[in-house]
Amino acid sequence: MDHFLYRNGALHAEDVPLAEIAAAVGTPFYCYSSATLVRHFKAFDEALAGMDHLICYAMKAASNQAILTLMAGLGAGMDVVSGGEYARAKAAGVPGDRIVFSGVGKTRDEMRMALSGGVRQFNLESEPEMEVLNAVALEMGVVAPVTVRVNPDVDARTHAKIATGKSENKFGIPITRAREVYARIARMPGLKAIGIDVHIGSQLTDLEPYRQAFAKVAELTEVLRADGHEIIRLDLGGGLGIPYERGNTAPPLPHEYGAMVQEMLGHTGCEIEIEPGRLIAGNAGVMVSEVIYVKQGEGRDFLIIDGAMNDLIRPAMYDAHHDIVPVIEPAPGVEQQPYDIVGPVCESGDTFAKQRMMAPLAAGDLVAFRSAGAYGAVMSSEYNTRPLIPEVLVQGDQFAVIRKRPSFEEIINRDTVPEWV
Ligand code: LLP
Repeated sequence: MDHFLYRNGALHAEDVPLAEIAAAVGTPFYCYSSATLVRHFKAFDEALAGMDHLICYAMKAASNQAILTLMAGLGAGMDVVSGGEYARAKAAGVPGDRIVFSGVGKTRDEMRMALSGGVRQFNLESEPEMEVLNAVALEMGVVAPVTVRVNPDVDARTHAKIATGKSENKFGIPITRAREVYARIARMPGLKAIGIDVHIGSQLTDLEPYRQAFAKVAELTEVLRADGHEIIRLDLGGGLGIPYERGNTAPPLPHEYGAMVQEMLGHTGCEIEIEPGRLIAGNAGVMVSEVIYVKQGEGRDFLIIDGAMNDLIRPAMYDAHHDIVPVIEPAPGVEQQPYDIVGPVCESGDTFAKQRMMAPLAAGDLVAFRSAGAYGAVMSSEYNTRPLIPEVLVQGDQFAVIRKRPSFEEIINRDTVPEWV
């Protein structure tokens, strides 16, 4: 459930009409609901209540400082994948011992940054990385807490670009090599293995792949313990999917996921850590855009809107579906018609939906893209020198701009022209 509902014929974010925000900040913009973010975090927290656990929000999904500060206030840890994300977590007040550092290509500088600022653990993804972290930690005279991300070779049954747990993916080390790798770590004085990490993909709509992966992790926990390693923490990654299309069958809910985790891994006695991103932020955000033109093509009508692929890349990149709804609720019984909904960018890929059934719309009308809170603003760019669109956070009847739209001047002034051109 989210907090974007029609009231008196107008789509609201909590108690604020989206049209009011549009009038104040201009379109397009992203709008997040605090109540939805909090609700989703709590759903996971309650789902894992029976186990010692920490929810490390995967900030790659939506990393505005206001969202991070909200999450930090709830006691969330953070999953970070770059020095920039680490800096964001610290700036939001997250203590180092709640920050997990993931990612296949951590640099020495990033390792130093996390080791000096504090880190819960590094999730290691390869043996070369292990050697480098050992060297960096020794140089600094510290011991780095680590898990190894194992690749369980299971099919997450999701979009190929966001599946990560098959042996052909670049992520983790093959689970079959885990014993050797942990034995190597035990001989590295700069590292201390404390657990196991696994993340098999994103937008999972079925618990079965998780079960398969977690069964392998449970088995590996026993094997590694028998080898003399102290395995006290299991990081299970993120990936639980969200309903993008209303009316379709919904993915499992956090409490079902939590029950499965308990069933598969509760007996290990390990502390459980999860890294959800999409489920927390996805349905907590919408992108609002205005219709610029309705263009009649041959055999089809185009809705040309002021949002584009640079603002929300998911449809162009993953053929992702986003529900697109009018901000003013259509009168009951009004006949829908098909539209191709496109942005102004000079590429045919700048298409959000083809032949989407919508109540008739006209220039100046507002539409909202649902489920745009995760992997929306964070993946946007200034292609076509379209300024990054504002982000707005709503709480009850108040809203605030949490990232403003840059002016053209600010964009231009980021470049420098050498005197010799
Ligand atoms: N942990 C790790 C190690 C990850 O790689 C990811 C996502 C997460 C946690 C969070 O997964 P989530 O709970 O959000 O599914 N841009 C794509 C999604 C990329 C996901 C990358 N990794 C999209 O728009 O669908």
